[in-house]
Amino acid sequence: MKALVLAGGRGTRLRPLTNTSAKQLFPVANKPVLFYGLEAIRDAGITEVGIIVGDTGAEVRAAVGDGSRFGLRITYIPQEAPLGLAHCVLIAREFLADDDFIMYLGDNFLVGGIQELVASFRPQDYAAQILLTPVDDPRSYGVAELGRSGQIVGLAEKPDDPASDLAIVGVYMFTPVVHDAVRAIRPSARGELEITDALQWLIDNGHHVHSHLITGYWKDTGRVRDMLECNRIVLESIETRIGGTVDEGTEITGRVVIEPGAVVERSVLRGPAVIGADTKIIGSYVGPFTSIGDGCEVSDAEIEYSIVMNASTVRGVSRIESSLIGKGVEVTPARTTPNTHQLVIGDHSTVRLRA
Ligand code: TTP
Repeated sequence: MKALVLAGGRGTRLRPLTNTSAKQLFPVANKPVLFYGLEAIRDAGITEVGIIVGDTGAEVRAAVGDGSRFGLRITYIPQEAPLGLAHCVLIAREFLADDDFIMYLGDNFLVGGIQELVASFRPQDYAAQILLTPVDDPRSYGVAELGRSGQIVGLAEKPDDPASDLAIVGVYMFTPVVHDAVRAIRPSARGELEITDALQWLIDNGHHVHSHLITGYWKDTGRVRDMLECNRIVLESIETRIGGTVDEGTEITGRVVIEPGAVVERSVLRGPAVIGADTKIIGSYVGPFTSIGDGCEVSDAEIEYSIVMNASTVRGVSRIESSLIGKGVEVTPARTTPNTHQLVIGDHSTVRLRA
C-alpha cells in the first residue's frame, strides 16, 4: 500500500497567506498540519509516499525533505496547475503503479489516525473506500447520498442543494481500477477533474465503493475559522512543558508549552497555549487556545484564540481574538492623533477594526 498526499492547490480561501506560503505548512499547535497527516500515514505502516506539489513546492520540499525523519520515503510529483483531486491521481500513475493506495488531502486533520481505516479496507471486495461525516453545512464539501442499506447511490462536489448532510472526509482508499476512472472523466464546470466524478464513474461501472462513517474529529483546515478550531482541538490535549524562562511576575493557569529559549515576563498565560522557541512574551495576556510561533514578540498586548506564525510582533495592542497572523508580521498601534488606523495590508486580507 502506498500513500498519495495532496499538497498543491490554490488555497484561495486562506488568502493572502497562501499567496506566499503553502497552507499545508500552516501550524496547528506550532506544527505544520501536513506533518500530522504524514505521521498518521507512517503509523498505519505505510512508507512509500508521493506528495503532489504546486507553486509552493519548494517550501514543501524544504520542510519535508526526503521524509526520513518521519520514517517515510517521499517522491515529489509536481502538478503544473491545480486541475483537481482526480488530476492528482492521473499524474501520479507512474508512482502509484498497480498498488492500492490511500489519498490524503494535505490540509486535512483527522484525530485518531488512519490505522483502523487502512486495516478495514478490503481491496478484494471494494474498488474504493471513502469516509463520511455529518456536517452542519454540506454545501462546501463533497457530499454522498446513501441508499436504504447504506450503499452510496450518488456523489456531488459542493452541491447547491445537498442530498444529505454527509461530507466526504479528505482521506480516500483506492485500488488501481481508479486509474480507469480518472482517465474516463472530463473536467467539471469549474474546470477541475473531480474525485467525486471518478467515484461516481466507479459506481456507475458496477464497482463497489464502500463508505465508512467516522465518529472522530475531522477538519478541513481550508478556512481561517477551521484552522483556529483545529488548533483549539489539538491544544486541548497538550501537556505542560516549560523549556523557556518564566519570571516570578508571571501567572500561568492551565496547560502551557513554553519552548526552549522563550522568555515570559510580567504576563498572564491562560492555557491551553503554546509559546514557540525564542519568543518573548512581555507584560502581556495570552489567552486560551493560542499558538505563538518561534522568534515572535508579544509585548504590552492581549491575544486569545489565535495563531501567530514565526517571527511576528504584536506590540501595544488590545485585544486580538480569533485571528490568524502570518510570518514576519508586525501589529503595533499607530502613534497618531486623532486616533486613526494606519494599514499596510496585502490583497485579499480580512481586517476587522473597531468602528
Ligand atoms: P482544496 O482545499 O479543495 O482546494 P484548494 O487548495 O485549491 O483551496 P481553495 O478551495 O481554498 O482555493 O484542496 C484540497 C487539498 O488538495 C489541498 O491540500 C490542496 C490539494 N490540491 C492539490 O494538490 N491539487 C489540486 O489540483 C487541488 C484542487 C487540490
